[in-house]
Amino acid sequence: HRILCVVGARPNFMKMAPIMAALSALGPRIEPKLVHTGQHYDVAMNHQYFQALGIPDPDINLEVGSGSHAQQTAEVMRRFEPALDDVAPAAVLVVGDVNSTIACALVAAKKGVPVIHVEAGLRSFDRAMPEEINRVLTDQLSDLLFTTEESGRANLLKEGIADERIHFVGNVMIDTLRLNLPHAVPVAQIAADAGRTGFADNGYAVLTLHRPSNVDDAAVLQRLLETAAQIAQRTPVIFPLHPRTRATIERFGLAHLLDRPQMLLLPPQGYLEMLGLMKDARVVLTDSGGIQEETTALGTPCITLRHNTERPITVIEGTNTIAGNEPARILAAYEEVMTGGGKAGRVPHFWDGRAAERIAAIVRDWLPRD
Ligand code: UD1
Repeated sequence: HRILCVVGARPNFMKMAPIMAALSALGPRIEPKLVHTGQHYDVAMNHQYFQALGIPDPDINLEVGSGSHAQQTAEVMRRFEPALDDVAPAAVLVVGDVNSTIACALVAAKKGVPVIHVEAGLRSFDRAMPEEINRVLTDQLSDLLFTTEESGRANLLKEGIADERIHFVGNVMIDTLRLNLPHAVPVAQIAADAGRTGFADNGYAVLTLHRPSNVDDAAVLQRLLETAAQIAQRTPVIFPLHPRTRATIERFGLAHLLDRPQMLLLPPQGYLEMLGLMKDARVVLTDSGGIQEETTALGTPCITLRHNTERPITVIEGTNTIAGNEPARILAAYEEVMTGGGKAGRVPHFWDGRAAERIAAIVRDWLPRD
């Protein structure tokens, strides 16, 4: 049985690595194949991840590149269809919530090819987020749904998904984190390589921003960067810049806000570099979904620069605080971390490094007998 596994954007790569490995470990009856849609194509967004995570080279590259949501989604669909016909898999396996996820799920479902969705059931209940639309629709199209936290099952049941299709298996991204933690790149080395030896020696914060709601609006972005500059007066801030964010900072003429000795701007970092940065940070400020989970697994305080989260377990059990994009709330959350150490947090159930193994075992039993 061939399983056609889809990756497209950076947050997909670290989820797929352990799944491919666990499916391969089942033996010759199951043959995972990898397709990369090319939604992310820069070396910094891409190649570093494949190398660091030991992901096999894709069997198929669709090279779709950037575009509007409609263009990008349509282009993935158009190019994925012949690949799907060619491979004729027993199932298509998609992860997460990016445009490549919904595009490939939709093509497969209409051709009667079963869809497996890993990281199903997460809901922000905010349809202004393109990912929320991708999540809801992908789950509707899926035959087998794997969840990372129990909130996912309740959400899916409300949307009419049959209980027996839903499996709580834990978090494959945390499988990857645990496996790679010993190889995390130390922050001192990252600072030195950037020509700023000693930058992080007395503690540091990490900032990441890439959501359109935060970086595509000049007033919001300016407010966030000013808040970061204020934090940097007390805790040096390391800020790896997503290509989208770099572009809008330049377009809106905001670069001067970041031009200060307590601020270290970096290009997009590789996976092992990000692990090193998150592991030893005093606090992480982010609008990423994955980083909310990774900081919870690492026990690092996280301040989420959004009004909601689709990953409530990181707030209920983990180290995450939702702060929105208003300076006063962000600074209050920062103050709490600096004075009280932040939320203690514990690692959620099944975030134990074995989620992909559970998925592989369920997929094996679900596939038709030979
Ligand atoms: C995508 C995902 C988002 C995820 C994020 C992680 C969707 C809807 N969004 O957002 O959920 O959190 O990836 O990074 O799928 N660009 C480059 N080089 C690249 C890729 C992108 O320069 O390799 C620039 C382009 O200008 C592009 C912009 O970034 O237009 C946005 O890229 P896109 O893939 O559309 O969305 P992301 O913001 O990366």
